[in-house]
Amino acid sequence: MKAAVNTRYGSPDVIQIREVPKPTLRRGEVLIKVHATTVSRTDCGQLRAHPFFIRLITGLVRPRRTILGTDFSGEIEAVGEGVVSFTPGDRVFGLTPGGYGGHAEYLSLPEDGPIAAMPSGLGFDDVVVGEGAWYADTYLQAFGLGPGHNILIYGASGAIGAAAVQLAKYYGAEVTAVVAAPHVGLARSLGADRVIDFTAEDFTKIGDKFDFVMDAVGKTTFFRCRKVMKPEGVFAAADLGPHNQNVLLLLWAAVTRSKRIIFPLPKARKGFVEFLRERLEAGEFRAVIDRKYPLEGIVEAYRYVETGKKTGIVVIQLTPNDGTTQG
Ligand SMILES: NC(=O)c1ccc[n+]([C@@H]2O[C@H](COP(=O)([O-])OP(=O)(O)OC[C@H]3O[C@@H](n4cnc5c(N)ncnc54)[C@H](OP(=O)(O)O)[C@@H]3O)[C@@H](O)[C@H]2O)c1
Repeated sequence: MKAAVNTRYGSPDVIQIREVPKPTLRRGEVLIKVHATTVSRTDCGQLRAHPFFIRLITGLVRPRRTILGTDFSGEIEAVGEGVVSFTPGDRVFGLTPGGYGGHAEYLSLPEDGPIAAMPSGLGFDDVVVGEGAWYADTYLQAFGLGPGHNILIYGASGAIGAAAVQLAKYYGAEVTAVVAAPHVGLARSLGADRVIDFTAEDFTKIGDKFDFVMDAVGKTTFFRCRKVMKPEGVFAAADLGPHNQNVLLLLWAAVTRSKRIIFPLPKARKGFVEFLRERLEAGEFRAVIDRKYPLEGIVEAYRYVETGKKTGIVVIQLTPNDGTTQG
């Protein structure tokens, strides 16, 4: 099968499209013919081993696992002994085991892993939204977001931010989204009750106070956000923040046992993919697709995602007839 392989860390130039063996099917596993995947910011971090300490997990000198890709959608090609929930031909989607393996024509994973039947009425490209949604949901759940809460989502136009707006509305919160001018319409269309264009207005001076402030792009700071947090308000960031300052913030929060700062780590759960299927099927969550590339264009896709300018997700299409790049 064809796969995008990186046998060393580095820029997108280290990726090669190669023929590699198809995954072998073990008991309890399903083999999936992948139709769509994404290039995510998680993939970009793994590719460059950034931040450096992730090498302790991913491999000190070179990557232990050489096919990236966090999301997948496709069709069950074969099932291993003992599999009861899926049969060949089923259309499925989900998150890849450990965040690896999506950038390949075939992928195997346990049937009780983070995989679910495709939501009806949607195409393969419309459902590879797991990575952003999963991070967003982890933060919203860790806070315990629900009706009556007032949340501010900074950077609501990326994969995590766009997902956070939609899920926060699903949980019944009042949502204020902070984005640059070109994304104001998008944030409104995702359900935000109020949208602040940070290029025209300072969000720390809007007068409202929030129960939860989520920096979905890691571009603002706790100290700025504190100005709009209620006295018991909580802050979360999806990244290390300017000058990696959230590392110190995390240490400070741990030492002081502060409940005002949370950095929860997501875990792949089958239940989450099933939850996401329900939201997609009910029209409560939709993919925001920026660009689509064929597998052969994956290096270009990485270069684009690395700019930090994508809106929502960047899809990689592995089925042969869909291979155009769209702006
Ligand atoms: N904890 C983890 O393991 C983990 C996993 C995944 C992602 N992350 C991190 O989480 C962050 C978000 O990921 P993502 O995939 O959602 O990002 P993304 O899709 O790449 O975010 C891009 C979006 O952010 C907006 N943006 C860029 N700079 C901004 C700023 N200064 N203020 C407000 N908005 C800004 C961009 O808008 P413009 O086009 O207007 O610039 C664009 O719409 C990334 O930093 C990523 O590295 C962390």
